[in-house]
Amino acid sequence: MKSGTSMSTPFVAGIVALLKSLHPHWSPAAIRSAIVTTAWRTDPSGEPIFADGSNRKLADPFDYGGGVVNSEKAAKPGLVYDMGVNDYVLYLCSVGYTDSSITRLVRKKTVCANPKPSVLDLKLPSITIPNLAKEVIITRTVTNVGPVGSVYKAVIEAPMGVNVTVTPSTLVFNAKTRKLSFKVRVFAIE
Ligand SMILES: *[C@@H]1O[C@H](CO)[C@@H](O)[C@H](O)[C@H]1NC(C)=O
Repeated sequence: MKSGTSMSTPFVAGIVALLKSLHPHWSPAAIRSAIVTTAWRTDPSGEPIFADGSNRKLADPFDYGGGVVNSEKAAKPGLVYDMGVNDYVLYLCSVGYTDSSITRLVRKKTVCANPKPSVLDLKLPSITIPNLAKEVIITRTVTNVGPVGSVYKAVIEAPMGVNVTVTPSTLVFNAKTRKLSFKVRVFAIE
């Protein structure tokens, strides 16, 4: 009751309400992205986070997810991983819902592409690859909600035993270009 999701749910709901009043046009996905991508991966004083359990250990993303929410930074995330109705439709297609059940759900004639879109391309601010048997290439699209002429460079901290490359490695935004895509290529090192 006093820790974990039970306690973080009301805190995060309140932060979402504040972000929505600051940025009324942000979608639920944009707000989620802003919160996740600006979270602390240390505690607020810069000390490492530990995972409680039978063996106390240094926490990793499997323990803390995005990290400790930083509401002030979430107001200015720079980039967001946005999603709209169409992205959720692609997701439903990718996990195997039929055209007719998606059509009924969204109340609009929907035909999934063949081959199906990849579930790995769901535009989340995280990447989950259930089985890294062969090389995987995923695509993400980011929207610039920061200063108009922002330039972003990829910085890679690959997990052990995994090679990660990002192309293009630099994203240049301007007044006309608010959304840009990049590819992440991931393979296991033998
Ligand atoms: C990852 O693989 C590419 C070749 O596809 C190679 O150029 C690069 O040096 C590798 N990166 C690391 C960190 O091993």
